[in-house]
Amino acid sequence: MVRHFLKDTDLTPAEQAQVLDLAASMKADRYGYKPLAGPQTAAVIFDKTSTRTRFSFHAGIAELGGNPLIVNPGEAQLGHKETISDTAKVISRMVSTIIWRTYAQAGLEEMAQHSRVPVINALSDDYHPCQILADLLTIREHKGQLAGLTMVYLGDAANNMANSYLLGGATAGMHVRIAGPDGYLPADSVIAEAQQRATETGGSILVTTDPDQALVGADVVITDTWVSMGQEDEKEARAQVFKPYTVTSEAMNKAADGAIFLHCLPAYRGYEVTAEVIDGPASVVFDEAENRLHAQKALMAFLLAESKLATDVRTALS
Ligand code: CP
Repeated sequence: MVRHFLKDTDLTPAEQAQVLDLAASMKADRYGYKPLAGPQTAAVIFDKTSTRTRFSFHAGIAELGGNPLIVNPGEAQLGHKETISDTAKVISRMVSTIIWRTYAQAGLEEMAQHSRVPVINALSDDYHPCQILADLLTIREHKGQLAGLTMVYLGDAANNMANSYLLGGATAGMHVRIAGPDGYLPADSVIAEAQQRATETGGSILVTTDPDQALVGADVVITDTWVSMGQEDEKEARAQVFKPYTVTSEAMNKAADGAIFLHCLPAYRGYEVTAEVIDGPASVVFDEAENRLHAQKALMAFLLAESKLATDVRTALS
């Protein structure tokens, strides 16, 4: 069976831990793993702009011995001249992995349904699961564990990052607290799925409009831009709505001693986070950005091995 990674719960708790362990091993031996030797090509398709996702997948595929095929917005027939299903049937005969940054989650699901090779969500309107793997790797590096830690996300809680923190954090056995204003909270279906996962792992879920309730005792404090792609015209109006959720030094002081700050970047200093916090000693945002590379390399190797499409992964997967 071909394995895909379209949202965070596509990995079981044990599998997520296995991918993070492999990512740590790959980080320690950066050029030692070649599951894409051949070289096999991995396609990275962008319907939206990117810095971290583009660079980390391009470099990561090359480091795994493969050939990265980057497709920029508008360069393929996909979505305007050709259906997703026909595209999947064609390109999955040519490449080993399909990585796609797009809008609709349903599009990713359709791509996966018709693909012979793993499909990876490189950000959709609903989830950004590759980012959360990198974040979990970063938290584990700095705090030594995941299960039992309290991870707090403040801001636009109706976006793809909040959804993925709920699902990915619950999978890791973390206590996930999400705080945002009324009207900008996660969908009930996502909360329910996270709660189900947390029940299995010993984690917990709290969704609130009160940032102080979320911050008390937090080990990890996270935010994201208030202006996602396509919302640029609403920037100042959204800034008023989200202002009480800004991560300031005062907010960090409400968290636990030694709390760390994460942001998936790009960041807008003076909006969702102050410069004092993101450029201060609690911030691990550049470790987090680097870990996109290591986490995604491990994810690709894992999916190929589990799909029986790679046999030379020098890991403990077998
Ligand atoms: N965090 C993130 O996905 O960055 P890019 O949009 O630059 O890829």
